[in-house]
Amino acid sequence: ARPLRLGIAGLGTVGASLARLIVDRTDIYAKRSGRAVEIAAVSARDRSKDRGVDISGFAWFDDPVELAAKADIDVFVELVGGSEGAAPDAVKAALNRGLPVVTANKALLAHHGVSLAKLAQRKNTTILFEAAVAGGIPIIKTLREALRGNAVSRVYGILNGTCNYMLTRMEKEGIAFEDCLKDAQRLGYAEADPTFDIGGFDAAHKLAILTSLAFGCEIDLESVFIEGISAVSNDDIAAAAELGYRIKLLAVAQRTESGIEQRVHPAMIPIASALAQIDGVTNAVAVDSDLLGSILLAGPGAGGKATASAVLSDILDLAAGTSIPTLGVAPASLQPYKRARMRAHEGGYYIRLT
Ligand code: NAP
Ligand code: HSE
Repeated sequence: ARPLRLGIAGLGTVGASLARLIVDRTDIYAKRSGRAVEIAAVSARDRSKDRGVDISGFAWFDDPVELAAKADIDVFVELVGGSEGAAPDAVKAALNRGLPVVTANKALLAHHGVSLAKLAQRKNTTILFEAAVAGGIPIIKTLREALRGNAVSRVYGILNGTCNYMLTRMEKEGIAFEDCLKDAQRLGYAEADPTFDIGGFDAAHKLAILTSLAFGCEIDLESVFIEGISAVSNDDIAAAAELGYRIKLLAVAQRTESGIEQRVHPAMIPIASALAQIDGVTNAVAVDSDLLGSILLAGPGAGGKATASAVLSDILDLAAGTSIPTLGVAPASLQPYKRARMRAHEGGYYIRLT
């Protein structure tokens, strides 16, 4: 078969890592998926920037939308970011051509996942997004494939690497909030606008995607209760530690009597519990389901290589022809979806999880 030709829009932390891996491991990936994968076209803002990979052999596009609409490619890989502007326009252009899309863009899916998935279905193609939630942890495939015989009652965990990295360093090294944030940005963990991380919005985007997969409902970002870590100080963290707790930014989606409850907020977690032990940029996702009981997946939640690992799994699925057709739009619901609206809690952090 002719090689699977990729168009990669975005050559930043994730895109450049991905391009380097595809170039370095061409032969290994061809053997594993039975079809060679090659980069045909790339796009970024600055053509002259050193990306740690020779891009001179790839077709260059200043505009991701033009790449998506015109390049001679089989798959469009969106690693630009953002829920408005170039990213959604480019993804729509690719889907309109019937091209499969691979993306790590959780903001895009949380805001436009339903309409994009409908477009993909109409065009008989697919959107794959393993990298959009919890970096390298294979939670999307776990929910869509491994757990599909189960009824899920709760999915929760630590979904933002930047916040967990900051909270860990604030506690263990006593470093100030702003300095920890600067380091997270330097290391490539933070979003282009880090308000998305510290404000809890990035975790909310990821949670909304997980809720859709876990409970078989449409993505519903609006009903997520969101509180970030901006108000958490070194003193709060020290006070929690004295009481035997660690503060983590938790994301929780669970079935309740009044509907599916989705919330993101800082929580005090008993130090001895598994989630309290998740340090640094590591993420963890727990799933409670009827047949399997409780599972916990933990691993790198941000960073170039970890995220590229997840993007590659989708690309190699497409090369091997084993990808599951499209993101659930309104999948056969396991139960009727009712949204439970969360109200701001009073008097401090939740201590809900055992
Ligand atoms: P990044 O380092 O900021 O890279 C963004 C890339 O897109 C850059 O190459 C930039 O070009 C290009 N770009 C931005 N706006 C553009 C425009 N209007 N036209 C053309 N090119 C444009 O971002 P990233 O960290 O790699 O993240 C990419 C996506 O992956 C985002 O959706 C993010 O949420 C998601 N993600 C990131 C991580 C992580 O750990 N970083 C983990 C999981 C998911 P220049 O390089 O020329 O500026
Ligand atoms: N900014 C995100 C985080 C990147 O820190 O978790 C991974 O999605």
